[in-house]
Amino acid sequence: MRLKLCLISALLLSLAISANAQNNEPWYHSTTIYQIYPRSYYDSNGDGIGDLPGIIQKLDYIKSLGYETIWLSPFYKSPQVDFGYDISDYTDIAPEYGTLADAQKLIDETHKHGMKIVFDMVMNHTSDQHPWFKESMSSRTNPKADWYIWADKPNHWSSQIRGTGWHYCKERNQYFWASFLPFQPDLNYRNPAVKKAMFDACRFWLAKGVDGFRLDMINSIYKDSLLRNNTASRRAVARSPETKKYRSTIKGSLNQPETFEFAKELRAVCDSFGDRMLLGEVYGTHPVVKEFLGGQKNNGLGLVFNFEMLRFHYNAKYFSKLVANLEKDFPAPYSPVYVFSNHDRRRSMKRLKDDMARAKLLHVFQLTTRGVSCMYYGEEIGMSDLQIPYKDALDPIGQKYKKVPRWLSELFDETLNRDDLRTPMQWDNSANAGFSTSAKTWLPVNPNYMQINAKTEVKDENSLLLEIQALLLLHKRNKVLHDGSLELIPKQPHGVLAYKRKLNDQEVIVILNFSKKPKEVKLSGTPNSLYQIHKTDKYDAGTVHLSALGAMILGK
Ligand code: GLC
Repeated sequence: MRLKLCLISALLLSLAISANAQNNEPWYHSTTIYQIYPRSYYDSNGDGIGDLPGIIQKLDYIKSLGYETIWLSPFYKSPQVDFGYDISDYTDIAPEYGTLADAQKLIDETHKHGMKIVFDMVMNHTSDQHPWFKESMSSRTNPKADWYIWADKPNHWSSQIRGTGWHYCKERNQYFWASFLPFQPDLNYRNPAVKKAMFDACRFWLAKGVDGFRLDMINSIYKDSLLRNNTASRRAVARSPETKKYRSTIKGSLNQPETFEFAKELRAVCDSFGDRMLLGEVYGTHPVVKEFLGGQKNNGLGLVFNFEMLRFHYNAKYFSKLVANLEKDFPAPYSPVYVFSNHDRRRSMKRLKDDMARAKLLHVFQLTTRGVSCMYYGEEIGMSDLQIPYKDALDPIGQKYKKVPRWLSELFDETLNRDDLRTPMQWDNSANAGFSTSAKTWLPVNPNYMQINAKTEVKDENSLLLEIQALLLLHKRNKVLHDGSLELIPKQPHGVLAYKRKLNDQEVIVILNFSKKPKEVKLSGTPNSLYQIHKTDKYDAGTVHLSALGAMILGK
């Protein structure tokens, strides 16, 4: 570790640059994001549930690791059927998480720690317990009668998790549309009052200083105005014949052109408060994704997730293709988002077969590519999924599907019980992994916490946590890693991925060996070693020697 830090210091001295101080790119185009699922992060009052004061207590930890931005999954008032993704009041806090004053304190304290904070905005739907929906469903004539999507007869669209998205309401003798689960009715953005109400909710938080939003299911905001059946497939997310993979297409309930305009309007709302981030949950590929970014003018969301990589294959060929596609489809000033874990899909560690060495290499890749890196809480210590039986599932998806239907496994992979990947953060090796003093935590703690926990890893010079800390520091302090261009270096030995980051006269070369065999790579010039995973990775007289799963970052 000392070696790594000393190399980093050398780099800092040689480049002596403070990130983003001298460029016009918005800060969020190259930030590093740490996603927190509040319910599972830190329980400050002993009720078995994580809360906002708990997050405030852990800001020093997040800061010490070097993340620049925190994204919080929802903590607004909610019946918690989908654990906050079903909101019943956008400008209040669920009591188990704290108060409005705690939210304000969290924003202010994050800023005092020199970090940014973005909240999750669930605009597509509310909870069915939201007063807007209660009113809307009460009759066909009430003032909010058309705040949601109502039809006399369902069309053939299916919800994003299969099955019809139309649900009968006897008070109106009509059906309402829900893109996700039945208790999450979709709002009707064709009514200007709805848009205004939701933009006002955003303004409420922007005025409190929040640095932007992650936008839940933003691709579903508008539906076809005539609710016409889809011509080809019922599926909201259709299978593309060319790629044999799921891709977003223009369907009646997804990716409507009005949604692209909506993205621009929301950008304008944010811009009126300064430089605020918008990060959209938009699965799919070019060119639909580009529309969300604002097309040629790039005046839309600014950032979108590419969820293909949550199901990554761990080999050089896969990552090389991923980078090549992103660089081709989203060249600067667009900025790709690299994400390998979140609160909906298997943790990357599970996919890596719980192999720390593989995880280290994955994160060298993630933190040296061009764009934004987004990590899920616990990813920094190598937390893995805990298999919780479907019969005990609290997650509404886990409850709905007792096992993964084959068609859905392509989207969600092997688990549909998202509880598995939302277990409490593993802080130390005391009871409940130091997450809570309660006898019972809302989800069980993964028993591997005795070995996998933050406190142990801080002291272990070979830990993933210290590796990520060193990489975040390297990334943070070096403008070339923040803002430099990226070019793949072709013709590498089998299993090796190499690329160059360049900014003016600064150049950094990254060489990653995804294979289990040592590799040698020829490199011209006399680059300085800036970083390596293993002591045995070295540059010597024109050749880079990499051990199995080794990596080097070299500067010129
Ligand atoms: C998004 C969220 C997921 C939630 C769903 C409904 O996909 O990431 O957690 O269940 O939307 O809001």
